[in-house]
Amino acid sequence: MTEHPAAEEIIRLKKESGAFIFAHNYTLPEVQEIADFTGDSLELSIKAAEVKAAKIVFCGVSFMAETAKILSPASKVLHPVPSAGCAMADMVTAEKVAQYRKSHPGTVIVAYVNTTAAVKAEVDICCTSANAEKIVRSIPAEKSILFLPDCNLGRNVMNALGRKMELWPGYCPVHHHVTPEMIREARALHPGGIVLVHPECPEGVVREADHALSTGAMLRYLLASKEKEFIVGTEKGILHRMKKENPEKIFHPLLPELVCPDMKKITLEDVLRSLKEDLYEVVLPEETMFRARKAIENMLAIK
Ligand code: 13P
Ligand code: SF4
Repeated sequence: MTEHPAAEEIIRLKKESGAFIFAHNYTLPEVQEIADFTGDSLELSIKAAEVKAAKIVFCGVSFMAETAKILSPASKVLHPVPSAGCAMADMVTAEKVAQYRKSHPGTVIVAYVNTTAAVKAEVDICCTSANAEKIVRSIPAEKSILFLPDCNLGRNVMNALGRKMELWPGYCPVHHHVTPEMIREARALHPGGIVLVHPECPEGVVREADHALSTGAMLRYLLASKEKEFIVGTEKGILHRMKKENPEKIFHPLLPELVCPDMKKITLEDVLRSLKEDLYEVVLPEETMFRARKAIENMLAIK
């Protein structure tokens, strides 16, 4: 258990109020430690649909807290720092998607879960980095597809499936600047290290790596792997669980500056204040929630 002064009080308040705390794999280590459930976007969505807690405190970025509210509408969902957003999610708006829909009737619109609730309300189906290939594969071959907002994830899915899609020009500022050269340099420094990258990285990086996996899939892969040394090409918050769950393995971050500043905004003090003062409740229009839920449920229905 963490020795941070706020942690004990959080645990006590959590028990008293019956609150359930979610944390994404990129959040601060001490926040992950007090969470009831830590996971990738898909795992968090599935769990949010299952949890029947009266109060949910969501430690992650705003689109994730919105997804928890959409899937757990009877719960009071709190996002301790509402300004913790996702730069990629902000690269597409509901108005632009609605305009596209008007001019391209019949095109299936697939939205990465890294989108606002308002954008999800305009699309046909969601996906995460863990299930993107499966979701695209489920769409009839004769249909045209728009994939948004991550052009890198979209391109990587196209390459894996050999299927053409139109790609929105969005990207994750953290993963977009990783280059194949960085991987070659890391391999020279740590020969034999297995290179894991996130599929939000550009296609050349995915080609150069050993595996491109969601954060949850990386953690599952490590538990099953007999290898000893790994080079990790994603946000550095993931290293906390990697090291904790695999104390005998060695991890090298691909770059020390692979940091998503928004994922670091929620501190234990924020979580404590959120629990004490019910801050800040995620409130979404009913109609937006209803339409966005359909797109998420369409994703969860694909087995
Ligand atoms: P995961 O779903 O793989 O956790 O990714 C979420 C994300 O925001 C990656 O940048
Ligand atoms: Fe968004 Fe990138 Fe941060 Fe993930 S790492 S939350 S995609 S900005």
